[in-house]
Amino acid sequence: LSPQAPGRKIKWGILGTARIAHDYVIPAIQASRNGVVAAVAGRREARVNSFAEEFSINLQFNNLGDLLDSDIDAVYIPLTNELHRDWTINAAEKGKHILCEKPLALNSKQCREMIAASRSGGVLLMEGFMYRFHPQIDALLAEISSGAIGDVKLVRSSFWFKLNDLNDFRYKKEQGGGALMDIGCYCVNVARMILHAEPSSCVAVSKMNETRDVDELTLGAMSFGTKYAYFDCGFTGPLYNSLQVIGSEGILELPEAFEFPQRPRMLCFANNSSVPQKTLEFPKANPYTLMVEHFSDCILDGRPPKYSPEDSLNNMKAIEKLKLKALFGGE
Ligand SMILES: NC(=O)c1ccc[n+]([C@@H]2O[C@H](COP(=O)([O-])OP(=O)(O)OC[C@H]3O[C@@H](n4cnc5c(N)ncnc54)[C@H](OP(=O)(O)O)[C@@H]3O)[C@@H](O)[C@H]2O)c1
Repeated sequence: LSPQAPGRKIKWGILGTARIAHDYVIPAIQASRNGVVAAVAGRREARVNSFAEEFSINLQFNNLGDLLDSDIDAVYIPLTNELHRDWTINAAEKGKHILCEKPLALNSKQCREMIAASRSGGVLLMEGFMYRFHPQIDALLAEISSGAIGDVKLVRSSFWFKLNDLNDFRYKKEQGGGALMDIGCYCVNVARMILHAEPSSCVAVSKMNETRDVDELTLGAMSFGTKYAYFDCGFTGPLYNSLQVIGSEGILELPEAFEFPQRPRMLCFANNSSVPQKTLEFPKANPYTLMVEHFSDCILDGRPPKYSPEDSLNNMKAIEKLKLKALFGGE
């Protein structure tokens, strides 16, 4: 790479013809100021062809490994979770920078192996939590830092959507399925980010799906010393993804915290008032584009991303603590 070259764009390879790649991340890279989609690979030839045609991608492969030998700078890995570890390591060994989907891996051991591979390959590795790149999160963090709600006491979040397809990988334990892994990971992530700490103790209540060995809903509680976080997540309700930060002097709320917000806004409540004191509206922004632009900038500038893979490892450790202390409800 010649980072200083003006107008230099990162050449991305897409490792897998996933829905998330099709619906969000390929369009996001194409809309970015500093990246192009140069290659795509997948196991189904017809789907790879249709991706290449729809998005005008020059290089296409029916074998994931061949993509890693092509002329690309970075890979985006939207494979099912059990494949994240191996393909991250394979990409690192080929000197490709890696944006890997959440959750980073199946467990913390795999996260450590991926971090070690990225270090020895001299490449960047970041987990694809795009919500962190939406300006509403920067605004929330700035409001908290300004002391607007006093001392933060509690972070409360929810992430739900209805998943009816029992064949989806999210209903398969061996593929890292389950609500806690799939969407609870956002709630854990945002609590750790806001509280700048790791949970000292955790407890969860989960309901397992009747026919699949995964949790279809989980309620989690985490203690961070004198601060707390709790969340609920599940596959059995309508789409809902909210965040509240409760401080000694007020409350901040993002009604659409984790999905691509359709009407991004932050409600600010003063002490002892259930009516928002103010509501900040944000222009609609694409968090996927902001995420890939940030990652491409980091590659071009030779600097680490805003969110480290060690942060992802700590997220996984918190998820593991919750799993270890999970009680099981339901019949
Ligand atoms: N950040 C976000 O907003 C967000 C949103 C949704 C999902 N995700 C994450 O993105 C990932 C994919 O989710 P998704 O909903 O897009 O799922 P998906 O559509 O099922 O995509 C998974 C992809 O993995 C491929 N795959 C599985 N096993 C393979 C193998 N052995 N060899 C080659 N390819 C293989 C599948 O190939 P086929 O197409 O051939 O089956 C499919 O293209 C997950 O990690 C998920 O957690 C992130």
